[in-house]
Amino acid sequence: MIVAIDGPAAAGKGTLARRIALALGFAHLDTGALYRAVGLRVLRDGMDPSDATAAHRAALALNPADLSGPALREERTAKAASVVSAHPAVRAALLDFQRNFGKNPPGGVPGAVIEGRDIGTVVCPNADIKLFIDADLSIRARRRHEELRSNGISVELAEVRAEMAARDDRDRNRADSPLRPAPDAHLLDTTDLDIDGVFAAAMKAIGGVAK
Ligand code: DC
Repeated sequence: MIVAIDGPAAAGKGTLARRIALALGFAHLDTGALYRAVGLRVLRDGMDPSDATAAHRAALALNPADLSGPALREERTAKAASVVSAHPAVRAALLDFQRNFGKNPPGGVPGAVIEGRDIGTVVCPNADIKLFIDADLSIRARRRHEELRSNGISVELAEVRAEMAARDDRDRNRADSPLRPAPDAHLLDTTDLDIDGVFAAAMKAIGGVAK
């Protein structure tokens, strides 16, 4: 069974995906981490994320050690990830890994929860359940701002909001696999919901399929 979760930055996908995976005993894949790892590799190589050849080379060179570490969560990495993810060659290089994770989740568990931007539309169009998580830009920016501050990073809320709006715009308007809900996705707006509310709504949608 595959649960596909898509949505913009800081809508609450990550927390929700981990909670669903734990509740169902499924494997969890954060596909944003793959694009972040490619973006970070490009930055560390001293290259420009908008350079499609450099980004493709970084995607082909990706290894498991690239998928962890605090630098992956930095804002400059998020921006680089959004830029490299617009290159079709980068997306193509990461596709098989994501699809295989869904088909053969590690550890022999019976399913996978995969989160990203194009899981329900492109990576796993036949996913058993598709959730599209969204929230107002202001609330998403506030959540990310608080998260950064609690990690000791001091930055203006207005700057976080502007960066997030630019990233959303890039992710929604790129030609290859833009961020958008699949026609058969359940839409969940988390603007006025806390994580327990989001989790309950998601499990209700999943329960309807699992029965
Ligand atoms: O979910 P995140 O913030 O870690 O994602 C970082 C960037 O990676 C995001 O701005 C766009 C890109 N991305 C993508 O294009 N497709 C995915 N399935 C996941 C992430």
